[in-house]
Amino acid sequence: MTKEKFTVTAALPYANGPLHLGHVAGVYLPSDIFVRFLRMNQHDVAFICGSDEHGAAITLRAKKEGVTPQEIVDKYDGIIGKAFQDFGISFDIYHRTSSEIHHKTAQEFFTVLEEKGHFTKETSEQYYDEEFEQFLADRYITGTCPNCKKENAYGDQCESCGSALSPTDLIDPKSTLSGKTPVMKSTSHWYLPMERHEEWLKEWIKEGKLDGVQQHDPSKWRNQVIGQCMSWIDSGLRPRAMTRDLDWGVKVPIQGADGKVLYVWLDAPIGYISATKQWALDTNKNWEDYWTGDRKLVHFIGKDNIVFHAIIFPILLKAHEGLILPDNVPAYEFLNLEGDKISTSRNWAVWLHEYIASYPDKMDELKYVLTSIAPETKDSEFTWKEYQVRINSELADILGNFINRAMVLTQKYYEGIVPQLGVLTDYDNQVLAEIKAIPERISKLVYAYKLREAQAEAMNLARLGNKYLADQEPWKLIKTDPVRVETIMNIALQITANLSIVLQPFLPATATKISDFLNFSTNDWNEAGNPSLISAGHKTNAPTILFQKIEDEMVEAEVAKLLATKEQNSQEIKSNEKVSFEPQKATATFDDFQKMDIRLGTILEAEKVKKADKLLKLLVDTGIDKRVIVSGIAEHYSPEEIIGKTVTVLMNLAPRTIKGIESQGMILMAENASGELSFMSPEKPFEAGCGIH
Ligand code: 2FM
Ligand code: ZN
Repeated sequence: MTKEKFTVTAALPYANGPLHLGHVAGVYLPSDIFVRFLRMNQHDVAFICGSDEHGAAITLRAKKEGVTPQEIVDKYDGIIGKAFQDFGISFDIYHRTSSEIHHKTAQEFFTVLEEKGHFTKETSEQYYDEEFEQFLADRYITGTCPNCKKENAYGDQCESCGSALSPTDLIDPKSTLSGKTPVMKSTSHWYLPMERHEEWLKEWIKEGKLDGVQQHDPSKWRNQVIGQCMSWIDSGLRPRAMTRDLDWGVKVPIQGADGKVLYVWLDAPIGYISATKQWALDTNKNWEDYWTGDRKLVHFIGKDNIVFHAIIFPILLKAHEGLILPDNVPAYEFLNLEGDKISTSRNWAVWLHEYIASYPDKMDELKYVLTSIAPETKDSEFTWKEYQVRINSELADILGNFINRAMVLTQKYYEGIVPQLGVLTDYDNQVLAEIKAIPERISKLVYAYKLREAQAEAMNLARLGNKYLADQEPWKLIKTDPVRVETIMNIALQITANLSIVLQPFLPATATKISDFLNFSTNDWNEAGNPSLISAGHKTNAPTILFQKIEDEMVEAEVAKLLATKEQNSQEIKSNEKVSFEPQKATATFDDFQKMDIRLGTILEAEKVKKADKLLKLLVDTGIDKRVIVSGIAEHYSPEEIIGKTVTVLMNLAPRTIKGIESQGMILMAENASGELSFMSPEKPFEAGCGIH
């Protein structure tokens, strides 16, 4: 295998909450496996990640927790960074987009593109929340997705169908801040005219070619990635705003652009570059080596990030000139949990830092289960029951059992010394052939980003060993044919040594333990497949148990914890649904009540009051006269639908002038907890003028 150069990135997690198993299974664990494998093959690799600390995801969280955005990112960057370290994700650098070097890098990048004429500056009407005095973009505005019709799509993206949106695409938009329908207000922004890039993007994504030159192999790209990109391109690319009216983010590096920052999806992927710069500074390297030339850039992401990594960032990289475009964008589908979608807001998640705190010696167990169920091509599901079954019947019963038998028998029969290989049977030869073949099969699968199958193939080597010992029964033969047992045990130890190599990318801690048992270690993948890795006469160590079985109690406790969350959520929903009415007012005497003249009246005419969204001017027949009443019901009723209605009128309320119109009374309305209004109309067809007592 020729040595290649790779820059591998894992999506920068928003520093607005802790990591859950969905994040781990769908981005961080697969990228870590891929990188560990590349390193074992002596490729030149940079593995880059960091916290994504800008955008509405952060500021909205800060608002919710009642603290500053800086406090939020400091808190979660700490929690996330520690969880990665404890779990053993082997980034070369875990950086932060709030760092100075990132701000500078992102500003320089923007300036290069601006100077090359890749942006257009446009003034347009944008949604604005008058109450909060803020323009609404991205997560500040939600509405119904025009494509899949699901509610709660964000102003920049629908997380249900993955389409990238603009706020004006949303049906029935509402401000996330006030919950109200926003108004339009004029503002200026820098736009990326994406339609200019349609042609080359099509060729690059579908055929892997750029200006006719082959750049990547599109048959290695996942269907979902190509499908999502093509459907977006085919529906017509449009200019996309690259700046925002916000005070949290990377300032737009242009005079007169006060109060404007870079769009978070412009600054975040540049975070991969700024992190590389920091790493290069720390380790005396040249950052450009990792973003130019014959290097493969690979972005591991979740499916909701596809268009940003496979369309928008490539446009920016190409426009900048001289930088490489991704060789692949392995995107993962979503991991569900115990029959439901993982949800941070509903706390329906297994949090990585909590798992680590509860089971500090079970990292490889979790890695194994998550890779076995990784959502590579479709959504998949984590259940604690499956976690238990896979650990007990695969890791413990197959891998653990085999290693333990091989090591313990070596101790027992030969005091830990590797015995001689003697005459080989056909069965032995078949097993030796498999030892040779398996690493090659794993390699092919890893290079094709099929890590789930690759791990299963590594486990096949343990299966092979387990079956070999079970079939050969050295514990019986030792009495009758001890020479034959030497060969069997030598082969079992060769399988064990091969396992210490091929398991390394997937289960690094387990592989190290096996190496310690064997008193043999290598991190060179090319040594795998060798059927005589350890020589006769080599001294091995006494083993310990590799995997403890998972008890039912642990599963029951974890499931009970989740059920308690579900119960709490449904209680909260119920209590939110409970109507809370105002308490009773102070006592009114009968005389007080008698003072009020309340009658039925019929609405004869109705019209909107100019420059007042809420008001209708009504002409009401009260039985004794026809009078004008101004009523604040315009957001609930149109003029046409109320003409002819008989309603309740407070007649003798002192007249008031509203928007220049004298209102002679009040229409009485009922109001429910959601603020909806209802007329108090008579149940029988009583005419205008009837008194209400
Ligand atoms: O979806 C997310 O969690 C984003 N924070 C991913 C950003 S990836 C990159 F572009 F920085
Ligand atoms: Zn949608």
